[in-house]
Amino acid sequence: MSQRNSTIYWVLIVLLVWQGLGGTNLPAQNAASALSDPRIEERVDALLKQMTLEEKVGQLIQRTAFGGVTGPQAASSPMGEAAAKGEVGSLFNLIDPAAINSVQKAAVENSRLHIPVIFGLDVIHGFRTGFPVPLAMSATWDPALVEGASRVAAEEASAAGVRWTFSPMVDIARDARWGRIVEGAGEDPFLGSALARAYVHGYQGERLSDSDSIAACVKHYVGYGAAEGGRDYNTVDMSERTLRQVYLPPFHAAVDAGAVTLMSAFNPLNGVPTTANHFTLTEILRDEWKFRGFVVSDYTAVHELIQHGIARDAATAARRALLAGVDMDMVDGDYQSLVQQVRSGLVREAAVDEAVRRILRVKLALGLFDRPYVAAGFSPAGAPIYRGATIKPEYLETARKAAEESLVLLKNDAGAGGSPVLPIHADVKTIALIGPLAESAPDMLGPWAGAATSPKDVVTLRAALTERTGQNGIKLLYASGTDIWGTSDAGFAEAVSAARQADLVVMALGEDAVSSGEAGSRAHLGLPGNQEQLLEAVSATGKPVVVVLFSGRPLTLVAGVPHMAALLEAWFPGVQAGPALVRTLFGDVSPSGKLTVTFPRAVGQEPLYYNALNTGRPAEGADLSHRPGFGEDRWHSRYIDEYNAGLFPFGYGLSYTKFTYSAPELSIKKLSARALNEGRGSPLRVSAEVKNTGSRAGEEIVQLYIREQGTSVARPVRELKGFQRTSLQPGETKRAEFSLGRNELKFWNVDMKDIVEPARVTVCVGASSAEGACAEFEITD
Ligand code: NOJ
Repeated sequence: MSQRNSTIYWVLIVLLVWQGLGGTNLPAQNAASALSDPRIEERVDALLKQMTLEEKVGQLIQRTAFGGVTGPQAASSPMGEAAAKGEVGSLFNLIDPAAINSVQKAAVENSRLHIPVIFGLDVIHGFRTGFPVPLAMSATWDPALVEGASRVAAEEASAAGVRWTFSPMVDIARDARWGRIVEGAGEDPFLGSALARAYVHGYQGERLSDSDSIAACVKHYVGYGAAEGGRDYNTVDMSERTLRQVYLPPFHAAVDAGAVTLMSAFNPLNGVPTTANHFTLTEILRDEWKFRGFVVSDYTAVHELIQHGIARDAATAARRALLAGVDMDMVDGDYQSLVQQVRSGLVREAAVDEAVRRILRVKLALGLFDRPYVAAGFSPAGAPIYRGATIKPEYLETARKAAEESLVLLKNDAGAGGSPVLPIHADVKTIALIGPLAESAPDMLGPWAGAATSPKDVVTLRAALTERTGQNGIKLLYASGTDIWGTSDAGFAEAVSAARQADLVVMALGEDAVSSGEAGSRAHLGLPGNQEQLLEAVSATGKPVVVVLFSGRPLTLVAGVPHMAALLEAWFPGVQAGPALVRTLFGDVSPSGKLTVTFPRAVGQEPLYYNALNTGRPAEGADLSHRPGFGEDRWHSRYIDEYNAGLFPFGYGLSYTKFTYSAPELSIKKLSARALNEGRGSPLRVSAEVKNTGSRAGEEIVQLYIREQGTSVARPVRELKGFQRTSLQPGETKRAEFSLGRNELKFWNVDMKDIVEPARVTVCVGASSAEGACAEFEITD
């Protein structure tokens, strides 16, 4: 045989063996179509026929590797043994490729039916490369960037063998007390839906079966962000209209974008825990949205049905969750009881089969049967990836860009010379860097930092500022002043002395990473500890104070803001915190992020959000200098001791340049509701000119809002229905174009139909939810 023929011969042999081993050779396809592929269904059918009841239930069980195994010995560990016996369908919290391969080997080679395990992890804002926290990512209003960052996370996680992330969290959050506000995209369903799609596309890639794609898990389904009082895990009660109008849309968008898994939530919804909620898990998700992937419970949420009071034992909890539509049980093992419950006739085997089918579908669509193992490519010679791997330079670049776009400039007053204090002026010769967050690397990563991220990779503000001031011949003084939650003022004198010697003070203030995130609810939203007093002491020197604020949520800053010449909200910016901040402070780049959450003036205003109803007694512009007594102006929807509006509105954010807007122009003045509802008629086009009237290049996030009046149910005073990030050179004008069609104009009406109704519509285009010029059009019958 010639050399060439022998090569062809071997290639054919390999292909035949591959087929024989069950290689699907499925053609490339996106996630949604993969879940409907008849060849996948055939393979699932074939497996289901061979599976014992124990093996089926095993697929529904997810365990965590914490306290369990790491390292190559895993195959003979309890996890490996469980996998070999087909007792576990999924494992999470394992990030060492060698350990993952080892458990996988036990499942694939030693279990009877060779069904692979799916390895999951909370890859929330980066796996190895720490990106800004999701709330910061949302402040970029840049779906392409969010998709790119998620792609990086998918590439890194999949290289470690993690093919499933518990992200994105798409819970709408209208209450800054709720710590998990940091994990989502803020308060708006339209923006939230756009970013939900971006995350799913980024994680799942072009084809779910590609080895660098990971399955998204959209969470927490549903209503979790509406916890009463902002207290985590708390009761949620809301109308079906609010549920469908506000809280469900990002989930629906993610499902439509092809997300293959969802996570049920911890909270009860209108009395029914969301982990046992047939209405949301089956009627809406499966029957209405035709979701074909699987649902995993949140951590021990099945067992918590006992605490909720809807189950008196683990078996009932398992039965209720399964029959409501939860396919996989995270951690608590209650689903183990399903074997017995099927045998005793309490649960039909068909219900178990359906859950197994959904899980196997996803495993097949991921290509796990064909390529169960991970090549330890990203990690040198099998070393644990979190210790061994270096971050690729291009990923760091994406992380820096993301951090830069997420910074929101909330205040920038004129300094002594009359021009704004930022960017830092060339005549600044000494800078005092003060504050407890100036060099706190772990806090820069924020809550839910990736399991493989490391504070060692973080460039802090102090490190980056030291480098930059060194290059520019600027003297840098540093004093922490206090601790994040400190109460002692022992460090104030040193901070004040540094400020006195400086031309400009940069203060790194805010929350630590653990003050937000899961179970990170706060009843007080001020700067922690005595940071506000430190700010006052430093600002009393008369030196201009630029505050860089790190936080996982909006804070109440009414008392602090007068002491700040400039305020830059930095959230938790990730590994490239320092470079992004320094480049922004020195004006290499202009801030361009905008708020996706309203900053309250007082905790008592929460929940606070821009897209509220007008009420019958609106209190527009209530004058606080005139406190209502028992006269006429008392009888409005207002506080007697605070404004209704927040301190900084949704959509707000300044730039180093200035943008002006023309009035919006409409392509037509009338639309027909009927035509839109029947899928006919072209949408209305709205456009407005945006001009950079300043002297620096900048990026503006142009926002379009509508208000509908004359409808069968009350509609919000404003609703975001379009946005665009656009870059403008000094003097440049661009026309932003939007289209308003059925999707933008429909809502859940009085008959609970999601349709367009006749209405008078006000459309405003501008720089925030509180700005913009407006025009009107009519939706006729
Ligand atoms: C509980 C959290 O609520 C959820 O978001 C997370 O994905 C799981 N734990 C797994 O860590």
